[in-house]
Amino acid sequence: MSGKPDRNLAMELVRVTEAAALSAASFMGLGDKEAGDQAAVDAMRAVLQTVAMAGTVVIGEGEKDEAPMLYNGEKIGNGAQPAVDVAVDPVEGTALLALGRPNSISVIAVAEEGSMWNPGASLYMKKIVAEKKAREAIDITASPAENLHRIAEALGRKVSELTVFVLDKPRHRQLIAEIRAAGARISLHTDGDVMGALMAAIPGTGVDVLMGTGGTPEGVIAAAAVKALGGGMQGQRDPQVGYEQAALKREGTQVDAVLSIDDLIRSDDAFFAATGITDGPFLEGVHFDRNGGVTTHSIVIRALSGSMRFVRGVHQLNPEHIFGDRHTAEAVRLATS
Ligand code: FBP
Repeated sequence: MSGKPDRNLAMELVRVTEAAALSAASFMGLGDKEAGDQAAVDAMRAVLQTVAMAGTVVIGEGEKDEAPMLYNGEKIGNGAQPAVDVAVDPVEGTALLALGRPNSISVIAVAEEGSMWNPGASLYMKKIVAEKKAREAIDITASPAENLHRIAEALGRKVSELTVFVLDKPRHRQLIAEIRAAGARISLHTDGDVMGALMAAIPGTGVDVLMGTGGTPEGVIAAAAVKALGGGMQGQRDPQVGYEQAALKREGTQVDAVLSIDDLIRSDDAFFAATGITDGPFLEGVHFDRNGGVTTHSIVIRALSGSMRFVRGVHQLNPEHIFGDRHTAEAVRLATS
């Protein structure tokens, strides 16, 4: 068997995110972030064991001692070639799911072994993302206004016609003021900047640019999608907490280094799959249908071919396994049958 990932991996990865989303969906709005996340982790892990790959988790649910499953360094897949790096976020937007808000997704990214950026002690990074036509226009070291003018020019539009996805966090007060002063429109979201990056990299989604600081794990996952779409992305570590700063200093990390898309994902081949958990403007969530079925909505992208597929899965619920105590087993059965 070839050591290179083959195209069938894309559909295998959709099964993984479908299972996690199916399992997590019954926790929508219940106010329990941990329970929804755990359900997704369990389902994701169970289906990952069936995927033909020798995977190493590079971006997972934390270190081994903090997270019993999908921890950084964990070996996943059935052990067959190809050898790959894997980044997972069983629930991206745990608070969105717990509160029943739009845009929580289950997501996975895969790239050739050794090619995914390892953030080390870095927890937060500044990000900028735009679509393919504007990929040469972005410069994370320039001001928001300058970036918006350059992106607008590359897209042949006015700055006032651009919409910027920004996380609604106190740290972004200045950024928001500068975007407003430049005249662009803003779409504020409490969480979920992987979705923001995805929408910014795909033309016609209603989001043209992602700007601001979010998690580094989410940055690497988003980079796989942006790379696969041929879009533009840059990152720069942006420590937010004292112990993060101290750990980076101990590591001897150059904090202000600019990370290009090819630093974040070094291989030419990468896969990205996401399944909606709660409904969002770009990706619908898990729908429990009146006829006893369950519908999922996913996107899967592959860098080598540049193909982007939208997958609508209609799953038949086993009435004896109605989601509840047995939700994980049932979600795994649905996603793999
Ligand atoms: P979780 O799903 O882990 O809660 O992450 C959601 C998220 O909003 C990410 O999309 C984003 O990158 C990060 O958290 C921002 O972190 P913080 O909320 O600490 O500013």
